[in-house]
Amino acid sequence: MNILVSGGAGYIGSHTCVSLLEEGHQVIVVDNLSNSKYEVIDRINKITNRNVIFYKADLTEKDLIDVIFSKHAIDAVIHFAGLKSVGESVEKPLKYYHNNIVSTLNLVRVCQNYGVNKFVFSSSATVYGNNQVPSVETLNLLPTTNPYGETKAMSERILKDISSANPELSVSILRYFNPVGAHTSGLIGEVPNGIPNNLMPYMTQVAKGKIEKLKVFGNDYLTSDGTGVRDYIHVMDLAEGHVAALNSLTKGVHIYNLGTGRGTSVLELIEAFEKANSIKLSYEIVERRAGDLAESYAETSKAFEELGWVAKRDIVDMCKDAWRFEKNNLE
Ligand code: NAD
Ligand code: WQD
Repeated sequence: MNILVSGGAGYIGSHTCVSLLEEGHQVIVVDNLSNSKYEVIDRINKITNRNVIFYKADLTEKDLIDVIFSKHAIDAVIHFAGLKSVGESVEKPLKYYHNNIVSTLNLVRVCQNYGVNKFVFSSSATVYGNNQVPSVETLNLLPTTNPYGETKAMSERILKDISSANPELSVSILRYFNPVGAHTSGLIGEVPNGIPNNLMPYMTQVAKGKIEKLKVFGNDYLTSDGTGVRDYIHVMDLAEGHVAALNSLTKGVHIYNLGTGRGTSVLELIEAFEKANSIKLSYEIVERRAGDLAESYAETSKAFEELGWVAKRDIVDMCKDAWRFEKNNLE
């Protein structure tokens, strides 16, 4: 198939491009490179010995997208492109609503004009907010605590409404838990902009000596050791989850959690990283971070039963692969 991958130069998109190319698909990436670099495309080509077709274009500009669809017979779209910093979205809500919502609307509109009926969307566990755990797809969504989360919940609603009006559409909404790790080649991985917000890139930068000490945000949660518990998932498992979702697309809107179903605390992740890489991480316990949940992990049976997909890589793989990429990353 010819798959258009929006945001394919980014962290999750680039790993998914690798999986798609390895499955024999042709990949057309559209990315404005606002949070990524063209070099990633070269690296995807190097890993797979294939060639991605690349367009530097902004999805908020519909005419540009139209031109791309007119040049290629697109069979399906995987829509990763979006801004993703929770904190920045609180400071700049308009930037987030505009970028994330207008991009989704433009892409869906162009798909409709060109009769492209297969659509996979990057959503997030953040849409569950402070709901019960494990998070199960049938839960009614509560309002999230930040504009980023709202753009995901809104995009999900937009896709549901458009699908109700067009029964030919097949949409898969994938709610990712906490993606970490990198491709085993060490060539592609997560490159945060500035000081990382997320735990794993923060840990790898401490390990590299770029940051002096890790701050553990709170040890008084009602969890096994008092620190926050999350469902970390290897980015290559996530990438393979997209291929499974694409292969299983059926008419209507279908929502799947992509996680491992297992929770790991901050202290457990630090210990696993230290053991896996024989490195000591210096850390201190500080105040809780505003807006954080005590725990979040996925109920994963729906993805297994309907997509035949299950995460295969464990925490040790995640820690080793994340560190290999950080070591190779010259910045
Ligand atoms: P990323 O920032 O690495 O990748 C997103 C890509 O989209 C970037 O290359 C960026 O340049 C591009 N982009 C942004 N706005 C664009 C626009 N208007 N037009 C064209 N390109 C644009 O992020 P990621 O971690 O790979 O996340 C991919 C998707 O998954 C996002 O939608 C994100 O919200 C979602 N998600 C991420 C996580 C996570 O923890 N990384 C968790 C859940 C969901
Ligand atoms: C994990 C755990 C922190 C950093 C975020 C977004 C979510 C999704 C994934 C996009 C928590 C603790 C963290 C640090 C720490 N993204 N921590 N010190 O908050 O679960 O999810 O990324 O959709 O929407 O909110 O991930 O990696 O920031 O935090 O102690 O320096 O690590 O308190 O318990 P989070 P995270």
